[in-house]
Amino acid sequence: MYVRSNNPQISNPLAPPLITLLALVTLLLVSACAPSPTGQTLFLQTCSSCHATSGDTVIVGPSLADIATRADTVVASMDAREYILQSITDPSAYIMPGFKDLMPKSFDTYFGGQELQELVEYLLTLK
Ligand code: HEC
Repeated sequence: MYVRSNNPQISNPLAPPLITLLALVTLLLVSACAPSPTGQTLFLQTCSSCHATSGDTVIVGPSLADIATRADTVVASMDAREYILQSITDPSAYIMPGFKDLMPKSFDTYFGGQELQELVEYLLTLK
C-alpha cells in the first residue's frame, strides 16, 4: 500500500529552498555579529615584530610593557590615551630619545577607527 509521507520537508516542495534561505540568513547574522579582532590580536599581527610587551627588551622599538603608565607623562599636554593614539597614527610627532623614526607611517589609514580604538584599549592595559 502506498503511504503518503507526512514529513513536511518531503511533501512541501517549498521546504528545501526555504531551509537554504534560513541557513543563509543565519550565516549572515552570525558573521555580522562575530566579534572584530581584539586589540591584542591586532598588536600581535602588526606591532609585536618591533615591540615587546614584557621586560625591557628592545626589538626595533621600545618595550611597551608599561606604556599605559609611561604614556601619561611623556608629553605634558597629553594623557595616556591621546599619546598612545598619536604614537600609532602620527609616530613622527614625538620620537622617543635613543630611537630612530622607524615606525611605519601608514597605520592611521591601515586600521579602521574601531581597530585603532581596540589597539589603544589593549595598550592601556599594559601598566
Ligand atoms: C618597524 C618597527 C615598528 C613597528 C612595526 C611598530 N613600531 Fe611602534 N615604534 C617603533 C620605534 C622605532 C619607536 C620609537 C621611535 C618613536 O618614538 O617613534 C616606536 C614607538 C612606539 C610607541 C611610543 C613608545 C613610547 O614609549 O613612547 C608606541 C605607543 C608604539 N610604537 C606603538 C606601536 C603599535 C601599536 C604598533 C602596531 C600598530 C607599532 N608601534 C608598530 C617601531 C615600530
